[in-house]
Amino acid sequence: IRKIALFTGGGDAPGLNAVIRAVTRTAVLNYGWEVVGIRDGLDGILSDRDDGLMPLDPHAVSDILPLGGTILGTVNKADPRLYVVKDGRVVVTDWAKNRIRTQMARFGIDAIVAIGGDGTMTIAAQLFEAGIPLVGVPKTIDNDLVGTELTFGFDSALDVATDALDRLRTTARSHRRVMILEVMGRNAGWIALHAGIAGGAHVILIPEIPFAVEPICAALQARWARDAKYALVVVAEGARLADGAPMYHEIGGQKRLGGIADWLAHQIIERCGFEARAVVLGHIQRGGSPSAFDRILATQYGAEAVHCLARGEFGVVVVLRCNDIRTVPLHEVIGRQKLVPVDGTLVRVARGLGISFGDPAE
Ligand code: F6P
Repeated sequence: IRKIALFTGGGDAPGLNAVIRAVTRTAVLNYGWEVVGIRDGLDGILSDRDDGLMPLDPHAVSDILPLGGTILGTVNKADPRLYVVKDGRVVVTDWAKNRIRTQMARFGIDAIVAIGGDGTMTIAAQLFEAGIPLVGVPKTIDNDLVGTELTFGFDSALDVATDALDRLRTTARSHRRVMILEVMGRNAGWIALHAGIAGGAHVILIPEIPFAVEPICAALQARWARDAKYALVVVAEGARLADGAPMYHEIGGQKRLGGIADWLAHQIIERCGFEARAVVLGHIQRGGSPSAFDRILATQYGAEAVHCLARGEFGVVVVLRCNDIRTVPLHEVIGRQKLVPVDGTLVRVARGLGISFGDPAE
């Protein structure tokens, strides 16, 4: 290997720049390789634009460790020539595979580091099968990627959600209100569960445990009866009623998960008789500086990705298992979502503390 490229795909997450820095420094300082960043997901290598590749060296990445977002840019809506969706499956086109191979030969790129979530890893797995030497790095604030105990970005998002609950507590208490915080996570409840425990929420609603309004009212009434006349509810954007589907809203003609906090506030006002307010935390969870933990995790992932390439270990993702950085084959992490185990330790601990999950069986 003489030259590698890296790209960031899908939604951004705190820690992306820490990976870019670690990959660059490890590649240059340990192996003497050249490094280029591909701009805007894979668009920078697929398109004919002149600025698609950004040369990277230790100097170029010297100040980006604490910076949120990604200096390379990222896209959720990739170049339409990259893949088609067949029977719900993302299938990378032959055009894109050929184009990437041709561009790699043209620019002398020997291997690629793909930094992203499930969507990016699905594309990376197909590129690897098409003969492109590549290693994946798992990113998402949702922490829902299988194969790894943690994705970077999750811890920073959790800090933001916990801080929001701390702030909501003082205003909830002053006004004797129910404050409902809606957090991200797609169809997984990791952010909601962890933030709910860290922020001392009284009700936690996650997609893995479908809820009903009655047990929530009962939990709130019990608090009011104890003269603790305020409550914090954290609800995952993908949470759903026991007999319902997740809630969606539309932005610019696109269907997006969310809106459940507002709906729940109305239910609590009407059915439980308490004052309630909804707060949607949204993309604040994805912005800003990564936590110290995420900086360290992202740095370890980036460094190990480069060592994998040096060993000729391609088609793998670097992961965290038992506090150690390891690798698993790309095909093992795609097409599935890591959900919160409903009888796992954290849920049991939370139930033991008297936290309600709005579970009809409570
Ligand atoms: O996967 C990360 C995530 O932030 C989810 O938690 C959320 O549902 C989604 O991305 C939001 O995506 P967008 O950036 O397209 O609004």
